Parts: sequence; structure tokens; C-alpha cells
Amino acid sequence: MIDRLHQILGDKGLITDPQEMHPYLIDWRDRRKGNALCVALPASTEEVSLTMKVAAEEGQPVFPLGGNTGLCYGGVPESPTPKDKPGIVISLQRMKLIREIDTAANIATVDAGVILADLHEKCIPNKRQFPLYLGSEGSTQIGGLISTNAGGTGVVKYGPMRDLVCGIEVVLPDGRIMTDLEGLKKNNTGYDLKHLFIGAEGTLGIVTGAALRLHPENTNDAHAWVSVDSPETAVRLFTEFQDKCGPYVEAFELVSGTEIDAVVRHIDRITIPFDTVPDWSLMIELTSTDANVDLNGTFEEILGNNLDNGSVLDAFIASNSQQAEQIWHVRHSVTEANKLEGMGIVHDIAVRVSKVPAFIAKAKEVTAQKFPEATPVLVNHLGDGNVHYILMFPHEYWNNLSDPEAMINDIQTCVHDISASFGGTFSAEHGIGRKLTGELARLSDPLRYELMKNIKKTFDPDNRMNPGVLFN
Ligand code: LAC
Ligand code: ZN
Repeated sequence: MIDRLHQILGDKGLITDPQEMHPYLIDWRDRRKGNALCVALPASTEEVSLTMKVAAEEGQPVFPLGGNTGLCYGGVPESPTPKDKPGIVISLQRMKLIREIDTAANIATVDAGVILADLHEKCIPNKRQFPLYLGSEGSTQIGGLISTNAGGTGVVKYGPMRDLVCGIEVVLPDGRIMTDLEGLKKNNTGYDLKHLFIGAEGTLGIVTGAALRLHPENTNDAHAWVSVDSPETAVRLFTEFQDKCGPYVEAFELVSGTEIDAVVRHIDRITIPFDTVPDWSLMIELTSTDANVDLNGTFEEILGNNLDNGSVLDAFIASNSQQAEQIWHVRHSVTEANKLEGMGIVHDIAVRVSKVPAFIAKAKEVTAQKFPEATPVLVNHLGDGNVHYILMFPHEYWNNLSDPEAMINDIQTCVHDISASFGGTFSAEHGIGRKLTGELARLSDPLRYELMKNIKKTFDPDNRMNPGVLFN
């Protein structure tokens, strides 16, 4: 099989040397390592298709890999059982072409290996933006973002990846190519199959290209870092911002003091605009395509009133782009910082925005009793009701546990049950991967779970596409 793949992919397109393969087999936080026969690096959709045909004929599992910054081990190539074949990792890192920018239709057509930051860059001279913003933008690839239905800080205004994909090109497990890159705004011709592949985490096929929705560039932006006493106040402010300037709210993030402390400890070039780290920080961005709207004035009015009535403890409004960058550098460094800080057990909860304070209070109360060694570290896309409730354990404590897996299960079950009691989900934007398959089975509506398994069987009857992800 390696010979056949070599014929298709050439020297540049195939890695078999164990040392060279290593970075493709591990999770970036170094928590899990998989195994594979080889890593395929196809340079075109045609090469992906031929590679998939060979894999199908050989009965080999296929593990698609994007930028490899996921948090649920969806990119770690692990065959579910020892008797399964080891499989092929397919990385689209060589497929980096931005095929077309159509400014009338507001569509960018791209290869799936395009890095998000490169697409952002390419949009600028076209006076457009692709409004997906997250910490890993310098490495994350479009195919991975689609496959995980990624979120980030702009979701409150522009929606998650699902709202930004208008067409898709995908290679099916048998090697056939399904293409719909027209990206028509209107097309009511039956089931919209692209949505099955968005968030499928590589379990139905491999995304090789996409038509993405562009938005007009924002010529006007304003940024604030606000100190508040509680999540209740934060939600009240979010409501007020919606009342007064809803369409301008592009990011509304709530971060705990414990998280900012971790960032200060581990990340370079951090500037805090307050004397002490706030207990709760709101990081807010307002944007507009209209250069004449006074966004800083809007901040001053809303925050000024709330300073006067005591709701806001302190506020910093960026007066230039460098100061704005300082705010977002802190926000986007949290995962890097947490990796160094300790063993963080990350949860990706979403509840209604209105229920966020009650969820946080309950989770803190219960986990303080059950897991007193952990510090709760919170990063919240408050505008989306998305709470990353992270329990941070000191490395020394964690390394001495006799059964860390059982501990992880206990923690997850506890936090996920609290979320469920508030009508919330246990996966808002990070996906299921290999980490939460048990939770998907446990917490899904049984009928929905059955139908999802039927969909998997329809596309991938031999369970070769990213086996072990979504379903265990
Ligand atoms: C974030 C990642 C954890 O919001 O989703 O920073
Ligand atoms: Zn997030």
C-alpha cells in the first residue's frame, strides 16, 4: 500500500519515517499519542481522492488532520481496537490555495489546507473580512474549522463556522468527490448535505475545499476592558449593550481573575490596564462598517453611567490599535497559558445567556466540595452563553493520582450534569472528538443518537473515517 501511495503522492507527499511522523500523531498538549502506517500529504483534491480509493481497497482507516489544535483529541490517530488496521493520517497542509475571492457574491473559495490567518490577510485588499476569530488563527486550517464547526470570539455577531460556509467540496470514504462550491444563497433542492459535514469531525469524509461567506470589512472598531463584580452584572451589561448598540457587538467575553493571573504568569508582552487584576473582566469589541458611528462615545456613555451607579468597578477603553491588541492578546493566550499552568480539565458548556450566572454559581459550589484541590478558571464567550469552565489542578497533585482517567470522568460527569440541569450542552464549540464519545452516548436524546449512527453508516459503512470519533 505504501508503494501505491508513493506512486500517487511522490516523495513530498508521503511520510513513513517514525520521527518525521511524530508531530502528526500527538495532540498538541502532549496528552495523547496515536499511531499510523504513514502520513499522506496530498497536493490536490484529485490526490486526496486517489489516496482514499487506495485506503478503501486496503480496508485502512483514515485519520484527517487539520492544524491540530483541537481540545478533544479528534486529530489523534487511534484505531478503536487493537485488531483494527493502523491506518493513514491525511493532512491537507500542502493544499493552501485561495482559489477565488468574489467580492460581488461575497464568497472566498479555498482549499481546505488554507490557514485562517492567511485568509484574513487576503481579504484586506478586497475590503472584506472572514469573521472567524480565535487564538489558533496562525495554524488552524479551514478544513479543521469546518469539521469542528469552530466558534471563537466573533460568534455573537457572525455565528459559528456553520453560518460562514456556503459550499463544500468533500471526498467520500470510497474516494468519490462531492462538490458544491457555487455557494448559492438560495437553493431549495432537498437535503442540504453540506451541513452534515460541518461539525462531523472527519467521520463522514474529508473536506478538501470550501466556499466561505465574506462580510464587508469593519472600518470602525472600539475595544474595552471592563472590571465587574460578578457574572450577574456582566449579563446585565450585555443586555444593555444589546439595547443600545446590539448590531455593533462583535465580542463580549467574560474572563475570571484566575485565568488572567495564569496568562500573566506564562505569556510574554502582557499589559494589564488596571492596578490589580479584576475578579471578572469583560472584554468587549464594537465594530461597524460605518466610519461615522462614534463607537468610543457609545462605550463612554454606557460604561460611564454604570461606573456612576457602581455596576462597573473600572473600565479601560483602548485609544489606539496597539492598546486594542493588548486586550485581545490576553484573551487569545488563555489556552497557551493554561497548558503551562497545570492540568486543566476543560469544559465547553453552553446554556442560555440568561442562565450563565446561575450555572457558574452552581458549578463553583459543587466542584469546590467535590474537587477542592482545583481552582476554577473561567473563560466565557458570554454573548453566546458559552462557558469554558476549567478546573485547574497543580501538576504535582495530578501526577500523583492513581487513576487520572477515572478522575476526569468524575469531573466531566459532574459538570455536564449541572449543565444539563440548566438545559445546556456539554459541547458548544470544541466538538466531541475521542474525548466525549461516552458523554454523547450518555446525554444525547436516544432517537437523535440512533439517527446520527444511521447517517454515519450511510456514508461510512465500514467505519474507516476517523474511527473512534463521535461514536465509540
Ligand atoms: C477559547 C477556547 C478554549 O475560547 O475555546 O479560548
Ligand atoms: Zn472558546
